[in-house]
Parts: sequence; structure tokens; C-alpha cells
Amino acid sequence: MKYIAPSILSADFTRLGEEIKAVEAAGADWIHADIMDGHFVPNITFGPMIVEAVRRITSLPIDVHLMIENPEDYITAFAKAGADYISVQVESCVHLNRSLQLIRECGAKPGVVLNPSTPLQFVDWILDYVDYVLVMSVNPGFGGQAFIPNSLDKIRELRRMIRARSLNILVEIDGGVNAKTISAIADSGVDIFVAGSAIFGSRNYKDTIDGFRKKIEISIIV
Ligand code: DX5
Ligand code: ZN
Repeated sequence: MKYIAPSILSADFTRLGEEIKAVEAAGADWIHADIMDGHFVPNITFGPMIVEAVRRITSLPIDVHLMIENPEDYITAFAKAGADYISVQVESCVHLNRSLQLIRECGAKPGVVLNPSTPLQFVDWILDYVDYVLVMSVNPGFGGQAFIPNSLDKIRELRRMIRARSLNILVEIDGGVNAKTISAIADSGVDIFVAGSAIFGSRNYKDTIDGFRKKIEISIIV
């Protein structure tokens, strides 16, 4: 199963509810929510209040991506707001096992995120404790940035690690996913495709998501 997760970072926030309904009707599988604090990344977005509002308008799984310092201080609040999946950046967690454990205790599925320059070895010892690994293919902070090509090598290497240990972990990619990059991304073995500007910046969300899905399916057959 492959999942397309529109990132609401690129949605029109004056009409957030409508935008979520629109991507849901267009075939989105998950809703990706980018949380930024102005410290871990040079941008600020929104907090649990907005996630709680998103929860009220959709039944799709909500995937909360925490790009914040001290994420453990906010995990409970995001889980209470209705997040189904919560991921933390390895770079912001001194006690990563503890943060992941807290996410699980709160009833959400834990994921771990790697910045483009962070080696895969950082997740070596926690792979057994996560439901998914998110590989950043841009430096987090903003939508609409260019895809960093060597992220594909990282994905392939991560796939090998997961296979070697017979783990049941989903692989997610985030940043620069669009009609041009998605085929190669799918070929590398990604399960969850986050896309912000490529979906919300397009004229017809359904055409865009259908187009993505076709490219993903073709690559699975090959
Ligand atoms: C980047 C965020 C992404 C962002 C992706 O810091 O984590 O989720 O929305 O945007 P696009 O798809 O436009 O690269
Ligand atoms: Zn994200």
C-alpha cells in the first residue's frame, strides 16, 4: 500500500477546512501537518489548536511532523489534538527512545525523521521502536524547495536496513515531491509521499493526485 499525504503547509489558510475537504475528495490518503517553532527551523507554523481543528473536519489519518526543539514537551498535546502519527527529528531528541515511547503511550504511531545531512546510522538503534522513518529530501522549514537527489540513495540504503532485519516499517519522503521527481522516488522504495506545493499549488487536486498515483503504480510494476 502506498500513501499520498498532502502537506497543508502549502494550503490556503483562509480556507483550511475547504482545502482539506478538497484533497480528501481528490483521493488523499493522509493529511501531513508541519509543526515549526522558529528555533529548530527558521519558520513558524501552527500548534495543537489547528491540528484539533483539522481533526474535526477529516477522518483521514493526521501525520504530525514536529520540526521543533524539545518535542517531548508537546507530544501529549498533539496526540490529544488527534494526531494519528507523530514524528520527531532525530537531531532534536537527546533521549530519542524516550520521545518515541511517549508518542506510543499517547496512543499515536511514532516516527523518526532525518535531515538530509544526517546519516542513517542515527536510526540504527531505534529502528525496532518506530512505525515509520521519514527521510527529508529538503532542509526542513519551507515548502517549494528543490528535491535533493541523493535522498534516493538514502532511501535505498534504509530499505536494505529494514529488509535485513525483517521489520515492518513504512518509509516516508518529504520535500520536493512533484510530477517530475515522483517516479524515481517511488522506484527507490518509498511508501508515504508527502507533497505540499505540488498539490496545493496545482489547479486540479484530483488530476494531480491521480497523476502521482499512476506514476507510483507504474514504478511498482517495473
Ligand atoms: C518542509 C516540510 C514539508 C513541506 C514540503 O519543511 O516538512 O512537509 O510542506 O513542501 P513541498 O512538497 O512543497 O516541498
Ligand atoms: Zn513535513
